[in-house]
Amino acid sequence: MSSMRAGLYVSEKKVVVGEVDKPLLKQGEALIKVSYAGICGTDMMIYFGRHPRAKAPLAMGHEFAGVIEDINGDCSFAIGDRVVIEPTLSCGTCEACTSGQYHVCKTLKLIGIDHHGGFAEYAAVPLRRLHQIPEGLSAAHASLAEPLAVAVHTVRRSDLKVGDNLVILGGGPIGLLIGLVAKQAGANQVIVSDISPYRLNKAKELGFIALDAKEENVNEKVAALTDRVGADIVFEVAGSPATARQMTDLIKIQGQIVVVSVFKQPPVVDLAAMHFKEISLTTTRCYSRGDFEKAIRLMANGIIDVSQVISHQLSLEQIAEGFELMENPDVSLKILIQP
Ligand SMILES: NC(=O)c1ccc[n+]([C@@H]2O[C@H](COP(=O)([O-])OP(=O)(O)OC[C@H]3O[C@@H](n4cnc5c(N)ncnc54)[C@H](O)[C@@H]3O)[C@@H](O)[C@H]2O)c1
Ligand SMILES: [Zn+2]
Ligand SMILES: [Zn+2]
Repeated sequence: MSSMRAGLYVSEKKVVVGEVDKPLLKQGEALIKVSYAGICGTDMMIYFGRHPRAKAPLAMGHEFAGVIEDINGDCSFAIGDRVVIEPTLSCGTCEACTSGQYHVCKTLKLIGIDHHGGFAEYAAVPLRRLHQIPEGLSAAHASLAEPLAVAVHTVRRSDLKVGDNLVILGGGPIGLLIGLVAKQAGANQVIVSDISPYRLNKAKELGFIALDAKEENVNEKVAALTDRVGADIVFEVAGSPATARQMTDLIKIQGQIVVVSVFKQPPVVDLAAMHFKEISLTTTRCYSRGDFEKAIRLMANGIIDVSQVISHQLSLEQIAEGFELMENPDVSLKILIQP
């Protein structure tokens, strides 16, 4: 069996470049030569040894684009096609899957978490999880289809109406992408709160109102910006106990809170405030195939420009440096690895 280079998570805070077996294709899979793979917050959870499912040694990376090198099965793709992969692996038999909601499969798995992923020269991917990259869309940008699909899914699940004022708690890659999609969907003010000057700067560059939660009274600022009504929608995308508490203060009466974050510990939420204001709460998980296709179209048609969300492009040899950079939100945003 031939081998390939891969960036491997081997133990807590240790990622090394090594050789692993090149994947052998099962029926219904394609072999993808990876062009770009993004480092995501979930990869950081694995890196810190906090992911319940990921097992070392693992080539992480679930946000990737590449070129089809081999195909085992019938499909409309051809060898040489540029594709971006939708990393969800669903069981196909649970209630969610049989009702067409495979992204909330009871035993949902992901390429790059439960199997080797994109931080490697090659990856094996089910044919039904491939999406063609349209001409004119770069592979680097296409590799952001996954986080952008999260943002598309989030905005589509929200009650956003044209002219709404929004607060996004957390200006990481996901929060900023939600802001970009929400602007296109007709949001009036997009207010981003963060604690990192670098990320707040990015938010400003993207045309959002940036509030420094360390330096400013965010509740007071949001009240002033919304004629003391509060935000129509609050997106919680920081995943911190502080923002889980804060979200109910910022929302207007009968507003909507959308929780996007994956909380490591169950946070305290003010249910009394939820009751008095008759707030509705929505959660989001991943994306449907349709959301993924919409994300690709939005980039290909120049409606969403993801280039400002990319902070670094590194070689596979530099992957450990990439994870170190990701540890500090004040120097990094989306980091792409080029295997
Ligand atoms: N719903 C889904 O399917 C889905 C998909 C991808 C990511 N996520 C989750 O979305 C969240 C955001 O992802 P990301 O990649 O942008 O993560 P990230 O860690 O890069 O961004 C979080 C941001 O929140 C900021 N923050 C921390 N404390 C804060 C506070 N008190 N007030 C304001 N801002 C604060 C951080 O500085 C950081 O910029 C994570 O919890 C991630 O797990 C969910
Ligand atoms: Zn991700
Ligand atoms: Zn299922």
